[in-house]
Amino acid sequence: MTRSRTFVVAVTGASGVVYGVRLIKALLEQQMGVAAILSNAGVKVLAHEMGYDPKTGFSPFLKSYGVQAGHLENLSVFSQDQIAAPPASGSFHHHGMVVVPCSMKTLAGAAAGYADNLITRACDVTLKERRPVILVPRETPMNLIHLENMVRLTRAGAVILPASPSFYSFPDTLDALVDTVVARILDHLGVAQTLMPRWGE
Ligand SMILES: Cc1cc2nc3c(=O)[nH]c(=O)nc-3n(C[C@H](O)[C@H](O)[C@H](O)COP(=O)(O)O)c2cc1C
Repeated sequence: MTRSRTFVVAVTGASGVVYGVRLIKALLEQQMGVAAILSNAGVKVLAHEMGYDPKTGFSPFLKSYGVQAGHLENLSVFSQDQIAAPPASGSFHHHGMVVVPCSMKTLAGAAAGYADNLITRACDVTLKERRPVILVPRETPMNLIHLENMVRLTRAGAVILPASPSFYSFPDTLDALVDTVVARILDHLGVAQTLMPRWGE
């Protein structure tokens, strides 16, 4: 299947992995390529919150979640330990990276340029290549270290887009509530979205 653009989407071990799953689904449905990276903790939270079985694999999981087989052709999946995978290099051409949800640990690694796994390395590389980086942190409340890491990343060019769902479109299901955040991510990536109406429409 033809892909028009490619994005790196990392799912880390913060609560709300469904945000990452629904973003990947939406990107694939828009004919985008997705290089997904799962952290080890992300896999654990996927199992806990969404019944993901690592033995089955992420693509079959997405298929069972409703992603069409044809769209899955545009998906590649990496673990955090595949440090030599394409997203580790600036020469891998993509159009932006999203870490969703983003744990405070990965946030700290990205803020420090501590590229010890494929996710923090890909963040570091994407920032140095001046491509879009969107981090979707999930923690509450936040301490000064979390907040300062976000300031540091913002100064480096990243967009901090907290997993703060909105209610003004009257979402009536959990997926609709989740999509209020996914829609904002798609907006920032410049990808068309019909997940929720725009204010005033
Ligand atoms: C069920 C569960 C929920 C978690 N939720 C959060 C969270 O919302 N935010 C966070 O920063 N860490 C959360 N953690 C802790 C992270 O998973 C942990 O700090 C881990 O080391 C993050 O690693 P990663 O960034 O490589 O995925 C959670 C852990 C579990 C098991």
